[in-house]
Amino acid sequence: MRLSVVGCGYLGAVHAAAMASIGHEVVGVDVDRAKVAALRAGHAPFFEPGLQEILERGIASGSLTFTDDMAAVRGAEVHFVGVGTPQVKDGYAADLTFVDAAMRDLLPFLSPGDIVAGKSTVPVGTAARLATAVKSTGATLVWNPEFLREGFAVQDTIDPDRLVVGVPSDDAGARAAEILRSVYHPAIAKGTPFMVTDYATAELVKVAANAFLATKISFINAMAEIAEVTGADVTQLADAIGHDTRIGRRFLGAGIGFGGGCLPKDIRAFSARAEELGRGASVAFLREVDAINLRRRDRAVQLVIDALGGSVHRKRIAVLGAAFKPHSDDVRDSPALDVAVQLHGRGADVIVTDPQAVENAKKVQPQLEYTTQRDDALRDADAVVVVTEWDDYRRDLTPDHAASLMVGRVVVDGRNCLDARTWRAAGWNYVGMGRP
Ligand code: UGA
Repeated sequence: MRLSVVGCGYLGAVHAAAMASIGHEVVGVDVDRAKVAALRAGHAPFFEPGLQEILERGIASGSLTFTDDMAAVRGAEVHFVGVGTPQVKDGYAADLTFVDAAMRDLLPFLSPGDIVAGKSTVPVGTAARLATAVKSTGATLVWNPEFLREGFAVQDTIDPDRLVVGVPSDDAGARAAEILRSVYHPAIAKGTPFMVTDYATAELVKVAANAFLATKISFINAMAEIAEVTGADVTQLADAIGHDTRIGRRFLGAGIGFGGGCLPKDIRAFSARAEELGRGASVAFLREVDAINLRRRDRAVQLVIDALGGSVHRKRIAVLGAAFKPHSDDVRDSPALDVAVQLHGRGADVIVTDPQAVENAKKVQPQLEYTTQRDDALRDADAVVVVTEWDDYRRDLTPDHAASLMVGRVVVDGRNCLDARTWRAAGWNYVGMGRP
């Protein structure tokens, strides 16, 4: 099928390349000329495992092209819209400027029978608002939320857990659902559930899923706070409750909490939208989820201060990690970088390392010292703080090796990803989060 993808960021670039990889002919459109030039040359504009390969293959075969000219979408049967919906500068709501602009720019190039498939995460009610203008061109709007995780974006796009399409309740909606079914045929043939809903449900599925995941993380972090005053161990608690299949162990990793371009802004936008709908009380708990999450960053900083005897002033601190999670170079709302900034603000001599995110981190926090080499960060440090659980820190760093480089013997494990017993046995002051 011929497809277009409007917006070539984390979502759109992956979607375009993934759709080409399953046999479609795809044109990606973005207003950012530098991004288009990079994509055309086969360069992924951000780190995402597997993206580079499918990008190169799609471009080489001629089935994947990129342009800044919206007119190039003409002739595509389905137009995906995957532009960003960041948090507004002065509040909690989602900024719909990019979605509105993309839709407005797309309209003149739509033909009767075309499908416009919104993928961006939007406040419930957005699709219904945009549908009339799309319908006036003879095209049909559907909402097809995306559930990909950064770091696994290619795999999640080609082989998702489920597909959800919100459609209007008329014949055009039924036809649109069938066309989307053809787009995703390879996944559906493998048994991926394909759910057809109304607009509001599809929009809500996305924010509800992210709200649930954020709540699960903050729940275990709340338990970590209780564990800290009772001497309990939150990692054992998580293992024990996680054995209950109704609860499950995934997303019960206590530590410095969640960040990134999705979970934090999505729960805030959900709260803002619920307030507008007169149902603020229904999701009031999300404010608490946010507050617990942000408190854990402060807690990690306090643990470093305590472990260094009450002050970090002029102490050399190696911060392992800047990305909001491993397998990503994304530092948007990164708890890891936030901890580094706070330590620096308290007078510590901080050096941050990350295998992928240093360039992005430098752009937003230029005052910090950076290195891409883990061992350079560890050299002469008084303390090491693990804030992103890359394998290089979690699995491959031994206490003896760290000791051979560092001055101090303090390790603060902001992700509870190290083996406390091993580090303690080697003579370290190991400090976890929510652990005795
Ligand atoms: C999240 C959702 O998981 C995706 O399903 C969704 O499509 C995406 O947002 C989106 O809306 O686009 P992502 O932001 O890539 O994906 O990252 P996650 O894997 O969900 O991790 C989010 C944060 O939670 C990270 O900072 C991670 O370190 C933290 N986390 C995760 C924990 O603190 N504890 C855990 O147990 C798990």
